[in-house]
Amino acid sequence: MAKNMESIPPQEDRRGFFSKAAAVVIGGLVGVIPFGAGLATLLDPIFRKGDKGEFRKIAALDAIPDDGFPRRYPVIATQRDAWNVYPNQPIGAIYLRRLPGESTVEAINAVCPHAGCFVDFNREAGDGGLFQCPCHRSDFKPDGERLEPETCPSPRNLDTLEVDQQKLAKGEVWVEFKNFKAGHPEKEPIQ
Ligand code: FES
Repeated sequence: MAKNMESIPPQEDRRGFFSKAAAVVIGGLVGVIPFGAGLATLLDPIFRKGDKGEFRKIAALDAIPDDGFPRRYPVIATQRDAWNVYPNQPIGAIYLRRLPGESTVEAINAVCPHAGCFVDFNREAGDGGLFQCPCHRSDFKPDGERLEPETCPSPRNLDTLEVDQQKLAKGEVWVEFKNFKAGHPEKEPIQ
């Protein structure tokens, strides 16, 4: 009997044990939650969400040479998560193009509609340059149309974006930036 009493820890010891256990659990949660938030931020390009389709200023009209070659611009925005605000974050890229002597601007999302890689513009390819996707070799003409639709891995042309014509008349290029679902023949915005 005396031996059994010895094996039961005194009440003080038990309280101490539970306090330590609670501290370990809470400490673990405090460490895990920011880690999860950081991981989500890190993986954001993988789980790329749709932008709400706001018009964003991309460039001054004068800064875009009117030579018919598309030029790539980053799309910058303020990002937020549950804890923080991140100003001036790159959220995508677009190509802008002005035809010779024109003040109109074409805007194209730089994401390939096949599986979401970024396309490059190669001035030396094709007749007047081509957008080329490095992932599965989809080729697009400078206006975003597929070069060979029958054999092109991409199910649709590159995604054109709307340019604010009123702002353009004032010399500023504002584009309604959106991402669209990859792998679909139709252009469907990601919500
Ligand atoms: S992602 Fe561009 S061809 Fe596959």
